[in-house]
Amino acid sequence: MAMESQVDFLVMGAGVAGLRAAVELARHGDVLVVTKESLGESNTHYAQGGIAVAMEGDEDVALHFEDTVNAGDGIVYRPAAEALVSEGPVRVAELIEWGTSFDSEGGELLRTREGAHSLPRILHANGDATGAEISRSLVAFAQVHKRVRFAEWTTVTGLVVAEGRVVGADLLGRDNRLERVSARAMLVAAGGAGQVYSDTTNPGVATGDGIALAALAGAELADMEFYQFHPTALSLPGVPRFLLSEALRGEGAYLRNDHGERFMERYHPLLELAPRDVVARAITREGIGERPGEMRVVHLDMRHIKGIDLHHRFPGISAFLAKYGLDLVRDLIPVRPAAHYLMGGIRTDLTGRTNLAGLYAAGEAACTGVHGANRLASNSLLEGLVFGARAALSMLADDLPITVAHPPKSVPIPLSPLEEQTLEEQIAKLQAAMWAYAGLLRQESTIHLGFASQEACAEGLARLVKQGKGSRRLSEARAMIHVAHAILHSALARTESRGAHFRNDYPQHDDKRFLKHSIFGREEQVVFEEW
Ligand code: SIN
Repeated sequence: MAMESQVDFLVMGAGVAGLRAAVELARHGDVLVVTKESLGESNTHYAQGGIAVAMEGDEDVALHFEDTVNAGDGIVYRPAAEALVSEGPVRVAELIEWGTSFDSEGGELLRTREGAHSLPRILHANGDATGAEISRSLVAFAQVHKRVRFAEWTTVTGLVVAEGRVVGADLLGRDNRLERVSARAMLVAAGGAGQVYSDTTNPGVATGDGIALAALAGAELADMEFYQFHPTALSLPGVPRFLLSEALRGEGAYLRNDHGERFMERYHPLLELAPRDVVARAITREGIGERPGEMRVVHLDMRHIKGIDLHHRFPGISAFLAKYGLDLVRDLIPVRPAAHYLMGGIRTDLTGRTNLAGLYAAGEAACTGVHGANRLASNSLLEGLVFGARAALSMLADDLPITVAHPPKSVPIPLSPLEEQTLEEQIAKLQAAMWAYAGLLRQESTIHLGFASQEACAEGLARLVKQGKGSRRLSEARAMIHVAHAILHSALARTESRGAHFRNDYPQHDDKRFLKHSIFGREEQVVFEEW
């Protein structure tokens, strides 16, 4: 049965950005936070290494700004980076006050280093479980607010637009119950879309739903060609691409090719701590064999490290590796890159506003330009805090009235087991095609192959939609198809290489034409704008 209800503020996503916003919004109205699985199942939860923050005053902040801008390869939107690094310390201090426990010794916060950081400034929790600790403490803090409600196991299947303004959304529960919720303002903080690729560090929920729904409602997307591939995911056949934190290299891990040679000196003076895009491409190149299809194994090596108890410093990683008979102290660990973080997303200004009234975005789902073409390691949790709070403040300031939306006319018909299986096969083909054709190294011909696969998947989906079918998975498939479409268009249009976007057919920067951000709008055209 279709239902209808109302709330002041609707928040899609329960990661760091959504929760931080919810806490702010709850001071002034009722908030409903919608999440596809149980609370805590988000990209935030899986963040290992830490949160980058400059807690030592102005000079420290200025260096963090410089590192962020340098990693972004020419197109970081400087006012966004300025906001991130200067407001970061206040937001982190607030988090500590609310119950987040970062690792410390003798009352001093411990800090580690990661790629492209000029000094150790990364706070961590429980060794390598920083995201889980931030998520735990923010959920607990939000739960004591009487005005915050959570809808777990609930999928947003569409945004409701009336007279050019987003006035609510359709929510599909686990029992296939459809509810239309009217809201004064809606925040998309539903994270990234790593699941568009077959190889990803992201959990299954990261299907780009918020980005796709916003775009389908008329929001502009920006910088969608910039997908960050984390250099070191575990590479074992049949095993998920488990993240092996950059903090391992921050604590001194080497990368070795299959001759046992440390190879990073051929790619960057910062060696293993070069920017993430450089390290990921270097591993890919070292991993390509001489014969077509041949792959060589690249390893992470910590066997030389003395004076650190690696099992204590990295308990989560050690426990995961132990399941496969691997030990950081004793073994070479096989690694390869995997899709990790989308620098692009729903275009917003610095206050989380999109081009659609009533719709706001923050965190990985949004694109403020803060990361440019390549995000600095451990800047993403900070982004969620800073821009989650900013978006909430503008939702409050805009003070939009509620417009009650009519309940949806029909409820979706569940898919048959055969239809579900076919849908899964089509999704898997799309993910494999995106990895092969629009991954770390792309070129015009492969991008066109990506389009062919994306269109085939879209046709299969359209047949089901026409029959009135609907489910969480169908909604996710639609989102992945839409996000893939935007990535492919944007990657085709940027005929240069920059940051995470590398074109084999245009391997150089083209600063004259492309020191700009790409905008993917409703007409499916990509335009480039200087910010
Ligand atoms: C990591 O621990 O390497 C991931 C941190 C990040 O994505 O910035």
